[in-house]
Amino acid sequence: MIAYYNGNYLPVEKISISPFDRGFLFSDGVYEALRTYNRKLFMLKNHLDRLKYSLEQTNINFTEFDKLEKIIFACAEKNNFTHDFSTYIQITRGISFPRTHHYNNQIKPNLLIYTTELKKREHELNNGVSIILERDLRWNRCDIKSISLLPNVMANQNAFIKGCYEAVFYRDNFITEGSHTNFFAVKNGKVITAPLSNFILNGVTRNIVFRLCNENNIPVEEEYILLAEIFNYDEFFLTGTSTEITPVVKIDNNIIGNGSPGLLTKKIQKLFYNFVRNY
Ligand SMILES: Cc1ncc(COP(=O)(O)O)c(C=O)c1O
Repeated sequence: MIAYYNGNYLPVEKISISPFDRGFLFSDGVYEALRTYNRKLFMLKNHLDRLKYSLEQTNINFTEFDKLEKIIFACAEKNNFTHDFSTYIQITRGISFPRTHHYNNQIKPNLLIYTTELKKREHELNNGVSIILERDLRWNRCDIKSISLLPNVMANQNAFIKGCYEAVFYRDNFITEGSHTNFFAVKNGKVITAPLSNFILNGVTRNIVFRLCNENNIPVEEEYILLAEIFNYDEFFLTGTSTEITPVVKIDNNIIGNGSPGLLTKKIQKLFYNFVRNY
């Protein structure tokens, strides 16, 4: 597998980074993950806008946005990908020695890009997934797509060992989002999800759901899903670039509804694939 690092395309096992990369020392970096549909990068501008936001908020001095698309397709080509693929872009602040918390903003950021072939997820998309609920131990700037993800890793591993797809976080009585997804509920025909704030990522797929609901007269509201009320909602689903619209049919071992994806969830899934087809 060939990946890109700072100007070079190399087999992944040949790529090395300095231990003085601030990403390695401090998780001082940001990332984006996107995918193609029909061999076109889906919602590229939205992902680049969010990347710029993450870079601005962390004051990382990277400006070479124009070259990213070319590098992504070069990676896919070098790996002979013939189908749609996903891609990961990571920008760390750069290398500084000795290790100090403060930094000099003249250092050059390090850019890593790789592509992977997408896994088939028919079963999850058609039948839904199980999730667990976990206390949200993350920091208060979840609006930044930071590479500092240990609480997400720990929570998702807990889900994984229980055979679940995702861990969804709560803060006090409020559900925020999943470890790598946004989380939605349906109640009495209304779609709801946590409001945008410093506690969640402004998901690109989340925004598509709002757009599709608004265009199709499906009531949709930014409103916290309440932990104490979790089993009083009718349907649940997760959204994300690789997760797409994935129904949730089990939470902490409790079956939701009749154990099948909800009707409104399926309708939104269908609208989403229609949107993708015409993108
Ligand atoms: C914490 C978190 N929330 C939500 C999302 C979904 O965002 P998007 O739809 O832009 O992929 C992600 C995606 O990586 C994420 O990491």
